[in-house]
Amino acid sequence: MSEQQRPQAEMDAPEFSPRKNGQAQSVSDELAAWMRTGWADTEMRDLEPIEQAGHTARRRTALSEAFPGERLVIPSGRLLTRSNDTEYPFRAATNYAYLTGDTTDGNCLVLTPRAGGGHDVVLYLKPRSNRDNGEFWLGGYGELWTGRRNSLEEASALLGVPTADVRTLPAALRADTVATRVVRGHDAEIDAIVDEVRADVDEQARAKSARLDEELGVRLADHRLVKDEWEVAQLQKAVDATVRGFNDVVAALPQAKDTSERYVEGTFFLRARVEGNDVGYGTIAASGANATTLHWTRNDGPVREGDLLLLDAGVETTTLYTADVTRTMPVSGTFTELQRKVYDIVYKAQEAGIAAVAPGAPFIAFHEASQRVLAEELIAWGLLEGPLDRVLELGLQRRYSLHGTGHMLGMDVHDCAVSRQEVHLYGDLKPGMVLTVEPGLYFQPDDLTVPEELRGIGVRIEDDVLVTEEGRTVMSAALPRSSAEVEAWLAERMPR
Ligand code: GLY
Ligand code: MN
Ligand code: MN
Repeated sequence: MSEQQRPQAEMDAPEFSPRKNGQAQSVSDELAAWMRTGWADTEMRDLEPIEQAGHTARRRTALSEAFPGERLVIPSGRLLTRSNDTEYPFRAATNYAYLTGDTTDGNCLVLTPRAGGGHDVVLYLKPRSNRDNGEFWLGGYGELWTGRRNSLEEASALLGVPTADVRTLPAALRADTVATRVVRGHDAEIDAIVDEVRADVDEQARAKSARLDEELGVRLADHRLVKDEWEVAQLQKAVDATVRGFNDVVAALPQAKDTSERYVEGTFFLRARVEGNDVGYGTIAASGANATTLHWTRNDGPVREGDLLLLDAGVETTTLYTADVTRTMPVSGTFTELQRKVYDIVYKAQEAGIAAVAPGAPFIAFHEASQRVLAEELIAWGLLEGPLDRVLELGLQRRYSLHGTGHMLGMDVHDCAVSRQEVHLYGDLKPGMVLTVEPGLYFQPDDLTVPEELRGIGVRIEDDVLVTEEGRTVMSAALPRSSAEVEAWLAERMPR
């Protein structure tokens, strides 16, 4: 039977595009009819809402209050082709997951303004596969290929929101020309429909759309700056799994020495996949001079006795909260005198940075505290020429420290990056904020301004810190941090 001869119902179901593997096997009418029947009712009834449903409801209310009278469109994002009919692992858009608790692809949250104020919420989702038109087993995105989805009713019960078939979303958006904002960049089709709808409202709206949409993203980032209790617990879960991942790596160092940095990356990844969704960002497994490349993710270098190994990695929970932790460890188990000297300076800078994290303190204070220590120590070592004030004013220590001392942490590893400067970069810390403190020193292998024996040494120490009412909690404190503690850790856990 040719493509034209496939059952009509199947031909009428193009919404979920077919697989692209070119093997269009014919389906006899008898088989098609048989496949339509004989399936048990698997609908799950009396489902309880997921744990975060109360939190997502509160977050949606805050968003509704921030944009009265406007329709807000928050897509989950689409699968991205890796090659032909394979896709990259899907990771839902942060704002979508934050507002719904859902992490599946191809969906969209819509808040539509009500006449009397507030918004109606509808979550547009892929429904169960249709068993009548063959899509469930013939289409590449049918449930027999990708797994059972929740029915719209099940999803509604679990997530605590009304749901609708996502195939009705384009018509719903087009049917109402109310002022609309979209979290842009996650779903090209939805972005295009919003542009279309805006053009109907106001000819100039299209030109303004980038700014309108940006404001929606900024406001959501502002809301996400302070974590609620549930979010803090998720972050602690991510950190705890990350600690176990670091312990796994130490136990696997002999195999890494026999292979490459990839063994370190793979070992950590195993923990991330078993305990969480994925790694929260590309693991940096950098040995020797590779540690002086800040985001070394090629991870294809050797792990040599005598070198330092810098591991910067974080487990992302299934709810999409990530840790971001770095330890720098001597592969042999013991720091050389020079490695220890560099390490201890970075440690001292980190101590100063952590001590500067407190409620009411300017966000930037921890960075300044760490950079001051680095500058002081580099001057004392003779690597920078004083006076200190001049070095700090001109930022000369940055030749060797390179990056900021930390960032907000949450669902995104560099969380809330687009939030307003007055509440973030130039704002004060508040209880519930979580940030990394991660000073480093990096002496490039070709840097002629430092003695030769220092070249190729890179050290970063990174911990995740929660701002509390009283001060701070180092969420990653279970990992050894000082040079002596790191050596004791290796002595205990690294097989000889
Ligand atoms: N892992 C990237 C960072 O530490 O910011
Ligand atoms: Mn990091
Ligand atoms: Mn970081």
